[in-house]
Amino acid sequence: MSLDSTIENLLRKGHGLLAADESLTTLHKRFAANGIEPTTENRRAWRDLLVSTPGISQFISGVILYEETLEQRTQEGELIPQTLAHSGIEVGIKVDHGTKSFAGHAPELLTEGLDGLRERLVHFHDLGATFAKWRAVYSITKSTPTQVTLIENARTLARYALSCQEAGLVPIVEPEVLMDGDHDQATCAIVSEAVLHSVFEALTFYKVKLETLLLKPNMVLPGQDSKLHPDPGTTAQETLSILRRSVPAAVPGICFLSGGQSETGATANLDALNRINGNAPWALSFSFARALQNSAMHIWSGKPEKRIEAQTQFSHRAQLNSLAAQGLYDVHMEAT
Ligand code: G3H
Repeated sequence: MSLDSTIENLLRKGHGLLAADESLTTLHKRFAANGIEPTTENRRAWRDLLVSTPGISQFISGVILYEETLEQRTQEGELIPQTLAHSGIEVGIKVDHGTKSFAGHAPELLTEGLDGLRERLVHFHDLGATFAKWRAVYSITKSTPTQVTLIENARTLARYALSCQEAGLVPIVEPEVLMDGDHDQATCAIVSEAVLHSVFEALTFYKVKLETLLLKPNMVLPGQDSKLHPDPGTTAQETLSILRRSVPAAVPGICFLSGGQSETGATANLDALNRINGNAPWALSFSFARALQNSAMHIWSGKPEKRIEAQTQFSHRAQLNSLAAQGLYDVHMEAT
């Protein structure tokens, strides 16, 4: 499949992405919060539950998997990537190796995983992956992010994206400004804009084809400890302002991460972005992990008898985000 047709499928109207690519440590933390044992079988069962949800392809056009899931099977015995492909859902793969402390610049973090990436991409492509994801993180404090962290992360994202395009995978470029801290929304806007400028400067410098990548940024939000709660309209305006200044129109789509927002908060903000998009040149959709999975995982709690109830909840959340991706969501739909 060509990069263009993958993009076209991923950006189908009323569709978004499910990020089910949590590392073992991250997924086990989420399991622990729901009393679920951190076993290989529970990881398989959880991801099987998500991808096997009836009708999910009406709302989800791509699922980002963690490496081990590529070779795991559903309870019917089918390889998970095949289950996705059979329902027209693109198979994505997280290819970074997570973050490590930046030598000489702690507590800032750099994302690792470029070594051997070209060979791994060929392998993932052979296993059915059509797109990939790499996440860089930036934390807001009085002294961070520093210029050197911006430059290093941007260059790494560009080299990753170039390798993906070479291997026939659409790169999702994810520069995430974290919500940790007590900063206000204006500070998040300034930092996020600087991050995006640095990323697109590097992507252009490395000659990454902007037409065949997707951006996965944070929304512009105040820090989680700030006690500020801007309404969705304000968040959408602030987010669109910085995107217009920093993201070239050649980029076909922007699929937001949820970043620790509540499920309803992330959906309402995505809806507002689409209602007031003011002829934005890019599709505006979602690539959520927590904001799609949290309540479904809580229902499931590792109990096989709760599988269908959890799938119903996951499907409902996916449907609400599908509506939000078209500016058609209403909070009253939460109850139905
Ligand atoms: O890398 C982070 C995930 O892809 C998005 O996760 O929606 O929970 O922020 P999140």
